[in-house]
Amino acid sequence: MNLVLVGAQWGDEGKGKIIDILSAKVDYIVRYQGGNNAGHTVVVGDKEYIFHLMPSGILHKAKVCVIGNGVVVDPFVLLQEIKEIKKAGIDIGGRLKISALAHVILPYHKILDQLRETKRKNKIGTTGRGIGPCYADKIIRCGIRMVDLLNPKILSAKLKDNLKEKNEVFKKVYQHKGFDFNSIYKEYLNYGKLFAPYISNTALLLNKAIDANKDILFEGAQGTFLDIDFGTYPFVTSSSATSGGACVGSGVSPAKINKVIGVAKAYTTRVGEGPFPTEFNPSFGKFMRERGREFGATTGRPRRCGWFDSIMVKEAVMLNGISELAIMKMDILDGLKEVKICVAYKYKGKLLREFPHDFEVLSNLKPVYKTLAGWPKVFTKPRNFRELQPNAKAYLARLGDMLNTKISMISVGSAREDTIFLD
Ligand code: IMO
Ligand code: MG
Repeated sequence: MNLVLVGAQWGDEGKGKIIDILSAKVDYIVRYQGGNNAGHTVVVGDKEYIFHLMPSGILHKAKVCVIGNGVVVDPFVLLQEIKEIKKAGIDIGGRLKISALAHVILPYHKILDQLRETKRKNKIGTTGRGIGPCYADKIIRCGIRMVDLLNPKILSAKLKDNLKEKNEVFKKVYQHKGFDFNSIYKEYLNYGKLFAPYISNTALLLNKAIDANKDILFEGAQGTFLDIDFGTYPFVTSSSATSGGACVGSGVSPAKINKVIGVAKAYTTRVGEGPFPTEFNPSFGKFMRERGREFGATTGRPRRCGWFDSIMVKEAVMLNGISELAIMKMDILDGLKEVKICVAYKYKGKLLREFPHDFEVLSNLKPVYKTLAGWPKVFTKPRNFRELQPNAKAYLARLGDMLNTKISMISVGSAREDTIFLD
């Protein structure tokens, strides 16, 4: 069975936890887009791991973890992550495979990401990791790929060509001194040596695995509304965070994908700028942020918080072909007097039941809520659906109805055990 797991909101849905659980049942775990803008948190016992580039499945012994061609790799960050994982006593052995075709983040990508953001009037709130500029170079066809790090002649030629143009832009547009060829060349050639054992034709590897009846989990990063096409553009990331990205980002045909699982929080969060229809007022937002520990796993920034938006998640169900949903952080809603679900939007007196694309509409619409009674805070975590509070069950039933999708997992805490499975 080959599964794709995607975020149904603006990222930070709790994908790391579900990936960790599902990893136990598959043979391969594949990252297919994004880069170290992602922050996937996995809690095992009293240990918390945060992965940015490494597929979250690495914690499971004997699973092969693949960084697919659709990912942009910052070699420095990946090295750090490998070191930390080894330090934690986890053996990587031959389990990590990096696509030769994955594009590489260079120092100029990171600096450009940050300089562009400071110049822009409408800030995106990027993580400043060089993700956008690296994908831009890929599309404009001047990117440097993992395979190039293994070939000094090609790396040198590409880097020289890039720096000739980029240094002009850095000087003239951004008043930045630009970059020195020798130091980048040396640094990245060295990465080539260090990563050589991991770099391979991962599309071939995965397709052979499928032929041998192995199971693959495709680990989405970010979320549907950060997708470069379907997200709240331009306040998005630069990759295809929807399920289709799993195919182009790994070299596995859509015909081989069996199921798409979506992950959504029981409420909504967003880091960075951009429209957010169901955002809480500042004081309730602060209360919920602290209660849900909603601070970015990558940048530490406070996350904006709001009610569950069923219009958004319904759109995500459609765009990704989600047939099962995991609802995360239900426990954070415990103890509220009432809970709300956005069931429509109102704009200039008109009722909207679909997610609008016009930026002006999206920024000025008012959510229409269905208000439900809350449930008390509980002191022992429910271990199955029966043990959930009646009003919590009613809330979930309402979500399932609104989304017309099966809820198959409910998370009531960060530990692996705090997960309720519905079949
Ligand atoms: P995970 O995988 C939440 C957001 C950034 C910013 C926008 C563009 O942990 O869910 P970028 O650096 O990609 O150019 O930033 O996208 N963003 C995320 N928000 N979770 C993520 O990943 C994110 N990755 C990017 O905050 O608004
Ligand atoms: Mg994140």
